[in-house]
Amino acid sequence: MKKLSLLIMFIVGLSAYSEARQVKDHDPLIERKIDSLLSLMTLPEKIGQLVLFTSDIDVTGPTIREGYKEDIQKGLVGALFNAYGAEFTRDLQKVAVEETRLGIPLLFGYDVIHGHRTIFPISLGEAASWDLEAIELGARIAAIEASAEGLHWTFAPMADISRDPRWGRVSEGAGEDTYLGSAIARARVKGFQGEDLKATNTVLATVKHFAAYGASLAGRDYNTVDMSDRELRQTYLPPYKAALDAGAATVMTSFNELDGIPVSGSKYLMTDILRNEWGFDGFVVTDYTSINEMVPHGYSKDVKHAAEQAINAGVDMDMQGAAYYDHLEALVEEGKVSMSTIDQAVRNILRLKFKLGLFEDPYRYSDAEREKANVMTAAHREAAREVAKKSIVLLKNEDKVLPIKKDVKTIAVIGPLADSQRDLIGSWSAAGDHTQAVTLLQGIEERAETSVAILHAKGAEIEGSDSTGFEQALQVAGEADHVILALGEAYWMSGEAASRSNLDLPGVQRQLAERILALGKPTTTVLMNGRPLTIDWLDNLPGAILETWYLGTEAGNAIAEVIFGDYNPSGKLTMTFPRNVGQIPIFYATKNTGRPFLEQEKYTSKYLDVPNTPLYPFGYGLSYSTFTYSDLALDKEEYRMDETIQVTVKVKNDSDVGGEEVIQLYVRDLVGSVTRPVKELKGFQKVYFAAGEEKTITFQLHKDHLAFYTATMEFEAEPGDFEIYVGTNSSEHLSASFTLLE
Ligand code: GLC
Repeated sequence: MKKLSLLIMFIVGLSAYSEARQVKDHDPLIERKIDSLLSLMTLPEKIGQLVLFTSDIDVTGPTIREGYKEDIQKGLVGALFNAYGAEFTRDLQKVAVEETRLGIPLLFGYDVIHGHRTIFPISLGEAASWDLEAIELGARIAAIEASAEGLHWTFAPMADISRDPRWGRVSEGAGEDTYLGSAIARARVKGFQGEDLKATNTVLATVKHFAAYGASLAGRDYNTVDMSDRELRQTYLPPYKAALDAGAATVMTSFNELDGIPVSGSKYLMTDILRNEWGFDGFVVTDYTSINEMVPHGYSKDVKHAAEQAINAGVDMDMQGAAYYDHLEALVEEGKVSMSTIDQAVRNILRLKFKLGLFEDPYRYSDAEREKANVMTAAHREAAREVAKKSIVLLKNEDKVLPIKKDVKTIAVIGPLADSQRDLIGSWSAAGDHTQAVTLLQGIEERAETSVAILHAKGAEIEGSDSTGFEQALQVAGEADHVILALGEAYWMSGEAASRSNLDLPGVQRQLAERILALGKPTTTVLMNGRPLTIDWLDNLPGAILETWYLGTEAGNAIAEVIFGDYNPSGKLTMTFPRNVGQIPIFYATKNTGRPFLEQEKYTSKYLDVPNTPLYPFGYGLSYSTFTYSDLALDKEEYRMDETIQVTVKVKNDSDVGGEEVIQLYVRDLVGSVTRPVKELKGFQKVYFAAGEEKTITFQLHKDHLAFYTATMEFEAEPGDFEIYVGTNSSEHLSASFTLLE
């Protein structure tokens, strides 16, 4: 813990510190500069500021258009994405600043999701650390590296709540929970934007994908989303709001429709909620060609109609669709779009270019010297290793197979992910250089004593039916005292356009694992995957299971530290692991129903062929330590609405090894004007306990923790009886109760 704090002080100390300036505070001087610039701009130049095109360095969507450099030269493009590198961005900036009539600087954006060059765990993995400092540090370092390569703007954090692991993009988010997802979104925004947008090592954050993209029907990407306004506001909107309250400068629209309206055309979302209710004053950018997609959605008769709907709904910038580029001028001339609408969108964008200091010095981010000095540094790699360790979840440790015994002489590292560099940095790995990634095999070889023999066999590919490698793998395993099995998904099997209809290990990996485990050797299965998997068969077999997601550049070293016991695993799942796909959607914060599951009762809410319980619940994760909870207490039995509820609990580390525990607090509102979930996370603390140490942990709750959208859609707490649960995960906890008075 100390090491990470020192690292944070060192890294954050690099950031220029100045008076925190919220995006919301309008600087009158900037507003006056925008006024004068608007008065000089022609309509085509104004529309140019609303146009975002991709460069040809990277491809992140279905269409690429030629000629973006010529468009920049004509002043018809205001921003470019998938463009980075001090020299590349400087050259393009020179075109915009020195060869156009008004010299308005370009904005450079990129998907820096979990690191730029030094890659951190994928977001779902990093979330499993439940360590907000570590999560903020990951974003901070990503911003330092990205801005050193000329980037002003990242398309992160992704704050989509999702409860369907078939959806490949769960890998990019923080999991199923609203409270945790909100805390993580805040931490990521703080990391990206730092204390001062004018500092050259901070970047604009983008909270995406607004809104409710994670609720795509059947877990199929881009699919329909339909839910009540209450569910939208209660479960899905809070993380976006948390990101904006933390100062997120921009918002990205989502591909889905919501309540029958494609989000990029939704005035309800983009203006009524975002602007009028929440007071957002950054800018809204669409996702990739999502304005054009309003035509196949069946909401627009053609792209020109879509452009009219989007700009009038409150969407400021068109990513890659050229809908604004091609049609806005005619729409204004036809009176279908007002000049004031155009001016407001331009203002929202120019304000951030001023805040970044681009008008003072357009080249301030494109600095080759800074680029060399700030990318893939030893300190960044060390931080990536620290964050990676904290993201690992120990799912099973039967017979204390881990940590590996000191007297082990031979270790076999087997499986298709044992020595893969590319998979380790996962999807959305930006400019990550996978050739710099430390594989599991390399990490084990590096960490093991020289006297220990390390054997390796791939055994099988990630996918396909070829089992001819089994024999060699079995032979290698037969010679070992400890077997490490590295299994999982390929990096491209999660992320965008990567939904899966079944969550089993692909290919013949299960067959390989069953043959290896049948040898009866002490075996650790290391999973590398971008989503929860259906591995109940593995849970029924002996050995240990480590969930390691895709841990990034330092993956192998981080996993080795856990396997050898240098680091006591502390991660906890932020998404429920189902027993099978039929249980999906499955999450802990469910409703009780009128016929809650009862073992002996036929007519209750259940399946005939599988329990209602998940394989591993939300908040689950083991440790080499054992933690016992006792003496859960509230300071009173009844509370008035304005009183603070003091919760205390004793937690003891009963083992002889120090470790961290994520103590979780859940609340249940037993009766409401609408039904309430059986529990909701309302607090957590990640605390280190020395061997044998006991601590009293305190939580404070107030009415905002108990508030919800009532039958009349007021957001408030209602008097009545409540349960409090405090424990090691959403299924194992102590309970207490209290009454909230009028
Ligand atoms: C993609 C993704 C979005 C990303 C954007 C730019 O389609 O949906 O998350 O930021 O395009 O690459």
